[in-house]
Amino acid sequence: MKKIIIAIDGFSSCGKSTMAKALARNIGYLYFDSGAMYRAVALYCMQNSLIIEDEIDTESLKRRIKEINITFEVDPETKNSITYLNNINVEHEIRSLEVSRYVSRIAALDFVREEMVDRQREMGKAKGIVMDGRDIGTTVFPNAEMKVFVTASAEVRAQRRYDELTARGDKADFNEILENVLQRDHIDQTREVSPLKKADDALLLDNSNLTREEQMDWLIDVFNKLTEEC
Ligand code: DC
Repeated sequence: MKKIIIAIDGFSSCGKSTMAKALARNIGYLYFDSGAMYRAVALYCMQNSLIIEDEIDTESLKRRIKEINITFEVDPETKNSITYLNNINVEHEIRSLEVSRYVSRIAALDFVREEMVDRQREMGKAKGIVMDGRDIGTTVFPNAEMKVFVTASAEVRAQRRYDELTARGDKADFNEILENVLQRDHIDQTREVSPLKKADDALLLDNSNLTREEQMDWLIDVFNKLTEEC
């Protein structure tokens, strides 16, 4: 069967990654988390004093962007994808609220996006991938055979993020998270380069009231129909 590219875009914390990962596993495709790449760049800035008094040192970041090596590996036990920043496992650190605070600003920088988009296109060369993010169906792979745009209400998304953080033992404040979700939505939708928007040919999936199983059935159904046509 011909392999395709599956682009999953949408708002932050609407379960895109969990959904994209599960879909990839079900159909035997590789999964790539493009948001993790922007998060790794933000972490790199935090670790290398490129954020001074809340300001990002964009000139230094521009000079050093090629030094930022981001790779993914699959955990043999959990089968989850692990993000490496310059060969160090940063999967846990990149999910912190501190990284979340800076990442939208980092992801709004044109030279960062150019570099990440080039790398993402390279990852999709052989097809057979599921990639999630904000601009996968619009910019990275405008010709992706399957495009899904996921959304859910801000409150539902904040609650999911809250549950995720508390489940792993991190301290969390619901209102702070909700504020962060709304702020990120705003930055993501209004930035100049590749703002978050649904591609005209993407299928809309509002999962506010869907179980994971219902969502997966929907995705597999779309995938089967599309690949039958290929
Ligand atoms: O999906 P996430 O929350 O891990 O994404 C982190 C940030 O990166 C978020 O602010 C949006 C941004 N991002 C982006 O601009 N483009 C992508 N393809 C993926 C994420």
